[in-house]
Amino acid sequence: MPLVLILNGPNLNRLGQREPDVYGRVTLDEIERMCRAHGARHGMEIETAQSNHEGVLIDRIQAADNEADGVVLNAGAYTHTSVALRDAIASVAVPVVEVHLSNVHAREGFRHRSCIAPVVLGQIAGFGPASYLLALDALRLHWEASAG
Ligand code: DQA
Repeated sequence: MPLVLILNGPNLNRLGQREPDVYGRVTLDEIERMCRAHGARHGMEIETAQSNHEGVLIDRIQAADNEADGVVLNAGAYTHTSVALRDAIASVAVPVVEVHLSNVHAREGFRHRSCIAPVVLGQIAGFGPASYLLALDALRLHWEASAG
């Protein structure tokens, strides 16, 4: 069964309490449970991790190259700032889908730029917790298409 790492970056451990008008009331724990249930329905094993530290996220992406078949990454604010995270993604062969709960393109200008967008499989933004489920579907369809 393919293994997908759901990797969340800085401040996403605060979901539920953090700016609920922007990010809603659903907690990260609930999102991870939704991902596991979606994975079970579609034959994917789900592993989850969250860190507020750039280097830890980089370590997880590097490790995922050997350990996982896909990564769903919400890099939080590092999306907009981290060349190191971009280089880590560019260095691995495992497909990475960038996700955001909010529609970053409808928000402040500094959120419109993603350092990682050029090196990921694709970006999904603006669907709240469903962004993660859509990313799992995107990986599934990507594997199907690559298998020919
Ligand atoms: C976010 C959007 C980012 O701009 C922000 O820094 C976050 C969350 C989202 O999921 O909408 O931390 O990635």
